[in-house]
Amino acid sequence: MDKQSVPELVESFAEQTHPDVLQEFDRASLEELVAKHETPFMVLDLEEVDYQFKALQAALPNAKLFYALKALSHPELVKRLKSLGSYFDLATIGEVELVESLGIQGHQCIHTHPIKKDKEIKRAIEFGCTRFVVDNAEELKKFYPYAEKVELIIRLSFRSPQAIVDLSRKFGCTLEELPEMVNQARENGISIVGLSFHVGSQTMSPMTHVNAVRSSVAAMKVMRDVKWKFLDIGGGFPISYQEQALPIADFCAPIVEALSELPEGVEVFAEPGRFIAGPAMIEVVSVVGKAKRGARMWYYLDDGVYGGFSGQMYDHATYPVAPLKPFDPTGDFYPSVLAGPTCDSIDVVSEDMELPELEVGDILIGKQMGAYTIASATEFNYYPKPKVVVVEDIFDPETGSL
Ligand SMILES: Cc1ncc(COP(=O)(O)O)c(C=O)c1O
Repeated sequence: MDKQSVPELVESFAEQTHPDVLQEFDRASLEELVAKHETPFMVLDLEEVDYQFKALQAALPNAKLFYALKALSHPELVKRLKSLGSYFDLATIGEVELVESLGIQGHQCIHTHPIKKDKEIKRAIEFGCTRFVVDNAEELKKFYPYAEKVELIIRLSFRSPQAIVDLSRKFGCTLEELPEMVNQARENGISIVGLSFHVGSQTMSPMTHVNAVRSSVAAMKVMRDVKWKFLDIGGGFPISYQEQALPIADFCAPIVEALSELPEGVEVFAEPGRFIAGPAMIEVVSVVGKAKRGARMWYYLDDGVYGGFSGQMYDHATYPVAPLKPFDPTGDFYPSVLAGPTCDSIDVVSEDMELPELEVGDILIGKQMGAYTIASATEFNYYPKPKVVVVEDIFDPETGSL
């Protein structure tokens, strides 16, 4: 990292305005796709998956990356990550069955849901997954019958008001509760082998991770009688939506430094979801209606917050959206609303955009739409979810093809 401090870096990136959201797209390739597929559809770019995975692996060189399937569980994405040497973070029986069907082995996975039914534990063990996360005494009891078969990781809670999604509000025990849980496990013949945390998704500053690593390292050092094998630093690695995120190498540098204090032999795990999947998918939608209402133009799209844009509701994301047709940046722009197709008035994608005038049939592209989008889409009003078109490289400047 250069001489800027972490807070300065965060601030200077946050201040940058988002560049033309389509500038790096190969417009010709997108038009080819639009000619072939009916909107709305999403485009999953597997080369982007490679790029994101390798960038994060380079930024966290000694960490094992367990991709969090909940962000996007498309089988082609999972297969690609498997070929890149990724590990997988599971939370449900459905996810167990997905990875099993794709030839992934149980030992390549961890089960990180802090609250589980017995049948979920059983199914994961049957698959060969032996590492589970717990964060409370009741959950620990569920593992008494499987004491011989499992290794447990205790999830700690570090609140992160800065994160867009503060996951420590819902899960994780406090550092004060930790010794009691370790004793309970020991008295019942269960091995505790690690600590984990998730500081919250889309965390814009690395300092929450850094502080959580420092506290975890201190706890491991105090509880020297435990044979610690892993520290799992969760997800939270940010991407740029409307607000620019730090480059991943800069984001991870202070975390790597904090991890260097870990006791000898403790391995590092991370559970990235958004960082891998987010930039790998775009959504292509059409304008199906337009109306001038008051001072604003309303454009009605063929998908909205009940579909691919569902992350605007559940994930608090605001995706960069722009027309596919080239427009003059110095031309006329009008206050515009982008609305989804359902009959519900909450189904609005953007209230306050400045756009050139659009026509019915024009195409719009939403970027950074891989994580927590189609994963939480519904079929409200009987609109089907957008289909996913898988490509190798949408931005191939050399061949101009897909
Ligand atoms: C346990 C767990 N691990 C990993 C993730 C992925 O987090 P992110 O998408 O911020 O990388 C989540 C997200 O909810 C999670 O709950």
